[in-house]
Amino acid sequence: LATTEHQAEGASVSGGVVESNHAGYTGGGFVNYDNAPGSHVEFTVTAQAGPATLALRYANGTTTNRPMTISVNGTAQASGVAFAGTGAWSTWRTATANVTLAAGVNRVRVAATTAAGGPNLDRLDVTAGSPPPGRPA
Ligand code: GCU
Repeated sequence: LATTEHQAEGASVSGGVVESNHAGYTGGGFVNYDNAPGSHVEFTVTAQAGPATLALRYANGTTTNRPMTISVNGTAQASGVAFAGTGAWSTWRTATANVTLAAGVNRVRVAATTAAGGPNLDRLDVTAGSPPPGRPA
């Protein structure tokens, strides 16, 4: 299996701003989702066809979940991923979802579903692909 990193601040953002005012992010910053349903970040992920694990590194300094739906090429594949509170805006944790990617370019959209919007999103790590021959998946 191989893991590829995709920074949120390098993705396509609709309803959010790139910021860097809370420590602990990787890369150049993170995306602060607008506090509105439908605000989203869309990553371009090139992959082989097959299952993949998405690990989304985020911070949520509130005590209320910031649920989001993850869609791939326009089809929702994981709904209600919680993005629970992390204790502080500078405390980052990872939420995961299992999806199926298509061969070639995939549009992986992570969209807020409530009026609170999404958490602050640092990065997407995609783990996918075939293991080397003779090794377990
Ligand atoms: C605070 C915090 C932001 C966060 C926002 C929110 O303003 O500083 O980083 O995005 O709360 O509630 O979404």
